[in-house]
Amino acid sequence: MDTIVIGGGNKLHGKVRISGAKNAAVAILPAALMSTGKISLSNLPDINDVRTLIAILENLGVAIRRRGRNAVELNPSRLRGYSPPYELVKKMRASYYLMGSLLARFGRAEVPIPGGCDLGPRPIDQHLKGFAALGVDIEIEHGLIKLAVAKMRGAHIYLDVVSVGATINLMLAAAAAEGRTVLENAAKEPEIVDVANFLNAMGASIKGAGTDVIRIDGVSQFGSAEHMVIPDRIEAGTYMMAAAATGGEIVVEDVIPKHLEAVTAKLREMGVTVDVEPERIWVKRTDHLLPSDIKTFPYPGFPTDLQPLSMALLTAAEGTSIITENVFDGRFRHVDELKRMGAQIKVEGRTAVVEGGQPLSAAPVAATDLRAGAALVVAGLMARGETVLSEAEHIDRGYEQFEEKLRGLGASIKRVRSRGGIMVRKPL
Ligand code: EPZ
Repeated sequence: MDTIVIGGGNKLHGKVRISGAKNAAVAILPAALMSTGKISLSNLPDINDVRTLIAILENLGVAIRRRGRNAVELNPSRLRGYSPPYELVKKMRASYYLMGSLLARFGRAEVPIPGGCDLGPRPIDQHLKGFAALGVDIEIEHGLIKLAVAKMRGAHIYLDVVSVGATINLMLAAAAAEGRTVLENAAKEPEIVDVANFLNAMGASIKGAGTDVIRIDGVSQFGSAEHMVIPDRIEAGTYMMAAAATGGEIVVEDVIPKHLEAVTAKLREMGVTVDVEPERIWVKRTDHLLPSDIKTFPYPGFPTDLQPLSMALLTAAEGTSIITENVFDGRFRHVDELKRMGAQIKVEGRTAVVEGGQPLSAAPVAATDLRAGAALVVAGLMARGETVLSEAEHIDRGYEQFEEKLRGLGASIKRVRSRGGIMVRKPL
């Protein structure tokens, strides 16, 4: 596994362009399978999850042409089957969207049970409950989820849990069901709206995405479409917090500020200057950071994906902050790693109490998931000395050119590639 070496103490400054949203792209690529026309996607983030999904689509028979780093053209008119390969599917959880899109295309899907993650248990019971409501027969054996239905029929589905994945997966399947499906208690994330817009561009009839009630009138055919993926609000928030953490001043460009309102509000509460323009956000920290209480909630609440980043940032605040993780049961794996760097953090159930004000000190740490990895890089930017982060591949799943973008902002950061256990320093 690669390591990333971070030299602490540099204040970040300059401009950084934000890439397309990972959590929209990993749903839109599987959704493209529903079309018998030609699909052109742009502003795709150049990240490992996208590469893995492209490999899965090619394995299923989709003809794909890369158009530069961030665009592809797909021709899914001749698919070979509905059983994506285990060795690729196990690499990423979001491959569960293949269930909804293959059901829409074939009425069949055989998808390996998605791997767990370091965020604690991540059940998919709401996905399966919704598919069953649409008339799908579900069998789970030998680690495979086997789904089959002659013709899906629209249904009224009330989600017990506000779930991004279940909302999107059921939108994919219901788009091809006979009649109307109503999803109640749906998640409202911007990525859900982006997927709905893409489906409608292919000929679907979806209304209400972005609210907690989504109405889907099934259609029998999906055609060609062009789509530009929305900017990644979590990537943008990561750089905004990195600027605040290092006492710097940066501009994040190509963003939708509306998607970052909870993050902007929290940074201002901490005493950070945040100025918003139509497609970019200025972040500047000059004074001391103030402590703040953060509670994660589904959108438009404070995003759980930025909870690890906010924890790293709040170790620099003068005082006590309380972070409550309401979305996932086990999303505090980064706490032990931050404590290795001298952070004063106490966890009680869903709550972490951060005693800020003591500077962090560099230490060897390990990424446990992509957002924890990003948070430890930010902690390294703040710490005295040189931090060595192992398991860096986690970061590559969701951040395009992470080190390059941070170096462009003045960070001292480099990757050391491990080839078969031999550390090879990558030239700066
Ligand atoms: C999506 O995961 C994102 N991943 C996550 O981002 C994000 O943290 C999460 O939404 C919440 O915003 C992608 O979009 C690929 P959920 P998802 O279903 O869909 C429970 C990142 O770093 N639940 O909204 O898996 C679940 O356990 C990743 O980019 C059920 O109980 O999340 C959790 O407690 C990490 N049953 C809560 O709902 C279900 O059937 C929210 O999960 C489904 C979910």
